[in-house]
Amino acid sequence: MASTSVHIESVTKQFGDFTAVNKVDISIAKGEFFTLLGSSGCGKTTLLRIVAGFMQQSSGRILFGDKPIDNVPAHKRNTGMVFQNYAIFPHLTVVDNIAYGLRARGLPSAQVDERVRKMLAMMRLEHLGHRRPRELSGGQQQRVVLARAIVIEPDVLLMDEPLSNLDTEMRIHLRSEIRTLQRQIGVTTIYVTHDQEEALMMSDRVAVMSAGHVEQIGSPADIFYRPRTRFVASFIGESNFMPAEAVADGVYAVPGGGRFNVPAARAAELGRKAEIAFRSHDITVGAPVAGGWTATVVDAQFYGATTRLVLDLGDGKTVQAASTGHAGSVPPPVGTRVGLALPPDAFWIFPEKR
Ligand SMILES: Nc1ncnc2c1ncn2[C@@H]1O[C@H](COP(=O)(O)OP(=O)(O)OP(=O)(O)O)[C@@H](O)[C@H]1O
Ligand SMILES: [Mg+2]
Repeated sequence: MASTSVHIESVTKQFGDFTAVNKVDISIAKGEFFTLLGSSGCGKTTLLRIVAGFMQQSSGRILFGDKPIDNVPAHKRNTGMVFQNYAIFPHLTVVDNIAYGLRARGLPSAQVDERVRKMLAMMRLEHLGHRRPRELSGGQQQRVVLARAIVIEPDVLLMDEPLSNLDTEMRIHLRSEIRTLQRQIGVTTIYVTHDQEEALMMSDRVAVMSAGHVEQIGSPADIFYRPRTRFVASFIGESNFMPAEAVADGVYAVPGGGRFNVPAARAAELGRKAEIAFRSHDITVGAPVAGGWTATVVDAQFYGATTRLVLDLGDGKTVQAASTGHAGSVPPPVGTRVGLALPPDAFWIFPEKR
């Protein structure tokens, strides 16, 4: 069995006059772990179902390698699938459920046993192999579904929120197990989640989706550190936005007296009014400097490992600073005037929000 590249070419899906997926173009390399990330209703499941062959797109096409598969039925696409409501066989035990696809492919029974044993261990289901689905919890059933999809070593693995019903500990265990196994068997994987941490830690590349279209495709570091749109900056990580106004060539001012230098070409493109964004953990809070960027602490929230300060910049604008705590550190009390600093590569500038 060979892993294959997947090409989604200008795929659109209409439900009546509602566009659920809007001209999506994605090329996924052989062996890549690719994630569709976005909030509820943005079209992730619809797109995955089209790739799986459970739903026909309104226009555009899907290729596995250089082969268009739009007329290939779902069960002939050799995909492993984990869908939100893709049930396991109720009359078969856990072991038989996992072994099903391998037996159907005619694998010798010694190999079937070996692969099933490995899957049971990975999914922490060793002690439940003889049970039937109705004797399992929701999370245990979910792990059987995962095992069944992965064990056949498909050409393409499609997973829709496979960890969403599991507790935190199991989720953290399985996300690294799935990642490791995916690398080992080198199966091209399309993974759907609305959990950005999961997307960042598991993926080679991520497509951030919004309202049926792709906002940005990039490596986890790309989408985290180099968001290309305001939407991506606000969706990934914890960002602050401030109105900004050009006060000189390539210099924008924000409330509180902060000044930001922007390349002249970018400034020309943006015009006089813009918006500046930064991550809460990138800003440093210190003593105020005369003529510098200043704020007043209006709230200090202690979370143990981090402390968050809510900072009033004046003009009715507040932003947040997050800092890592250490023994003996004391946050400035509410009411303190503080000076703010942000490294030059830690902010992004976008067109003014309308
Ligand atoms: N069969 C359908 N008929 C009409 N509208 C549909 C149909 N299936 C999905 N939609 C709509 O298309 C949009 C995208 O749905 P989809 O299930 O792809 O979202 P999603 O990104 O997977 O969301 P979630 O994170 O909640 O699972 C939604 O607004 C949904 O209501
Ligand atoms: Mg969905």
